[in-house]
Amino acid sequence: MPDTVTVGFLGLGAMGKGMATNLQDFLKTEGKAKGFHPTLSVWNRSAAKLKPLLDIGAKEGSIQEIALRCDVTFSMVFDDAAVRSLFKHYMEASPSSGAIFIDCSTVNPNLTKEHAALAQQHGIAYLGCPVWGRPDAAMAKQLLVASAGNPAACEKVRPLLEAMGRAVIDVGDRPELGQTLKLCGNFWITSMVELIAESMTLADKTGVPREVFTSLITNMYPGPFIGGYMKRMSEHDPEKYKITEQNPGFAIEGAIKDTALIAQLGRENGVEMAFSELVNQHMQSARQEGYGEMGELVLFLRKRAGLL
Ligand SMILES: NC(=O)c1ccc[n+]([C@@H]2O[C@H](COP(=O)([O-])OP(=O)(O)OC[C@H]3O[C@@H](n4cnc5c(N)ncnc54)[C@H](OP(=O)(O)O)[C@@H]3O)[C@@H](O)[C@H]2O)c1
Repeated sequence: MPDTVTVGFLGLGAMGKGMATNLQDFLKTEGKAKGFHPTLSVWNRSAAKLKPLLDIGAKEGSIQEIALRCDVTFSMVFDDAAVRSLFKHYMEASPSSGAIFIDCSTVNPNLTKEHAALAQQHGIAYLGCPVWGRPDAAMAKQLLVASAGNPAACEKVRPLLEAMGRAVIDVGDRPELGQTLKLCGNFWITSMVELIAESMTLADKTGVPREVFTSLITNMYPGPFIGGYMKRMSEHDPEKYKITEQNPGFAIEGAIKDTALIAQLGRENGVEMAFSELVNQHMQSARQEGYGEMGELVLFLRKRAGLL
């Protein structure tokens, strides 16, 4: 790898936009001193999402151009199919031996393992570096970032991972364990949404004042995390959940994908993940009724309970 390490980013959706913005900012201000080229190369399937990055100095490229131009390439796309497609195009461009590919998407750990093995045959390090935090946290550089895979490659890209979040979690040298850890973590988040939705609906239906119930839970579990979800899910108005640029949320589509991956991981490993199976079914039913944000599960349950 040359002295000046060039960096690329594939996928500028809700999460990728914030992550790439912070990377470009880091490369421009501190990159040179730390051995990185000051300009981030970017690609997104739909071109409209490139503009905010180009406006702050990033450079556009095709997947093929980025594969050839960049020593380190990040991907942050929706699901297995998207990562598979991106990585296929990346490998078809024949990137140099010594290149590093970092997938930050939430995907099946089996896919990460498969890609890492293929990459290794070509002298490329494939890292599993998924993240925790919503799009607003991505933009505010508040993500938790996993680092899993070849130790030398992880060490090399650490300043880049640090540039995207508030902490980097070392997972070890098996890249697929990054994605596995991500799913174990998302089990908590998706299950907590189910927990809040069911308990809040029960409290409502039986006449416990909403603020009394919220006060009990936030005293039991102080901190912004559960409190934030409780506050958000107290809303009745579907408009308040609507995902917009200003109000980024967790799409119900993503929760369905993640709970299915968690349940599958459990089945493959002989671990019963009954709660994830249930949350997946609830999320699917909620989506069928037109709900689009994960927190709207509470509206779905309120409606079922005759409260809406
Ligand atoms: N949102 C969250 O709170 C959150 C938090 C942590 C992790 N994650 C994970 O982060 C990843 C990205 O999530 P996001 O919220 O940024 O999703 P998003 O806003 O829906 O963006 C998805 C991105 O994937 C691209 N994409 C989808 N299918 C593709 C395909 N077949 N080929 C190429 N590109 C494709 C989209 O391109 P277009 O722009 O062209 O559609 C877009 O860049 C997901 O794995 C998600 O589970 C999300």
